[in-house]
Amino acid sequence: MPRSMRALVAGKVGEPTDVLRLESRPVPTPEAGQALIRVKATPIHASDLHVLRGRYGFSPDFPTVGGHMECMGRVEALGPDTEGPKIGERVVVAAVPAVPGPHVAGTWQEYLVADTRRLLPVPDHLSDSTACQLAVNPLTALLLVTRELDVQPGEWLLQTAAGSTVGRLVIQLSRHLGIRTINVVRRRGAVEEIKAFGGDEVICTEDEDLLQRVAETAGPAGVRKAVDCVSGPVGAQVSQALAPGGEVVVYGALSTHRQTDPAALTIPLQARSVIYETKAVRGFWLNRWFGTVSPEDALGALSQVRSLVAEEVLSIPQGQPFPLERFAEAVSLAETPAHDAKPLFVFKDGQDS
Ligand SMILES: NC(=O)c1ccc[n+]([C@@H]2O[C@H](COP(=O)([O-])OP(=O)(O)OC[C@H]3O[C@@H](n4cnc5c(N)ncnc54)[C@H](OP(=O)(O)O)[C@@H]3O)[C@@H](O)[C@H]2O)c1
Repeated sequence: MPRSMRALVAGKVGEPTDVLRLESRPVPTPEAGQALIRVKATPIHASDLHVLRGRYGFSPDFPTVGGHMECMGRVEALGPDTEGPKIGERVVVAAVPAVPGPHVAGTWQEYLVADTRRLLPVPDHLSDSTACQLAVNPLTALLLVTRELDVQPGEWLLQTAAGSTVGRLVIQLSRHLGIRTINVVRRRGAVEEIKAFGGDEVICTEDEDLLQRVAETAGPAGVRKAVDCVSGPVGAQVSQALAPGGEVVVYGALSTHRQTDPAALTIPLQARSVIYETKAVRGFWLNRWFGTVSPEDALGALSQVRSLVAEEVLSIPQGQPFPLERFAEAVSLAETPAHDAKPLFVFKDGQDS
């Protein structure tokens, strides 16, 4: 009789807590080129919830196992004639689907099969919380700062939602590279925290004028490089704060986190400023990046991230563990303002059915 496992499955597009159900499914069998991974920990990212609501940049076939970004687990078996990590090895699975391209099964389940080229071994000293968050946010921070914008030592980098996981990683990476950060937060309570964390300047949109503060900090012309994951009116202010020839890379739309408010999903640009000051506003999506590079390049960038984390240049904020059964609580925490820790689904040894 096939072994069974627990999986968190969405039967259709909808509100995550309405459509997710805990199901028993057979443990999958790896084919050639694949490994069977016993999942140990996997985060709940905003993008995972967008996927379930049908508002992300791709849509899986439903029913679908939730969690389409990343997880950490141990290799339990390899497919026939398959070379790969050793049985029992701890690995990160970069589940992020390339666009267009093959899709890795959802991560919110006890076992999954993955292409061995998507597996990155992780050292034992990295905690499960750190390892399961290695592939998405730290890689995004690295690519935004070093490849998308190529920010140089001594340059200012303006960023929004500085208290987010990506924002904190951008701050740490920037300090490491000698880049100075101007950090935008929405809450007064976050200002001292982000300064203490290493942000050079912090602007609180609750109290301060973003444009004025950027001009005071980076000079009256504005800042040359920015990253924005808020969009809406805040994203528009970031574009206005750019110096002539400046560029902002937009990678999120937290202004309307559930993407239900069309006005907040829009970034109103001043055409005169964009044209005559030749400013650039462009997007970044990790999925598309994975789709444009070879698996070797992708693993190379992930290895760079792994080194930065292993050498403690980057420290990924500790997540809050939840068993699959408490998924409603975990999903709710993921969307609660000022939540301290990102929720993670964790699987303990000996918990399989
Ligand atoms: N394009 C890509 O490939 C890519 C890759 C990775 C991440 N992302 C995006 O990056 C963003 C951050 O992800 P994460 O995992 O780092 O987030 P996270 O750790 O869950 O943190 C969310 C943060 O956003 C802040 N926030 C929420 N709504 C806001 C608003 N309306 N205005 C200003 N700040 C707001 C929160 O501030 P409070 O503390 O005040 O609640 C919190 O600091 C998300 O939009 C995510 O989808 C995109």
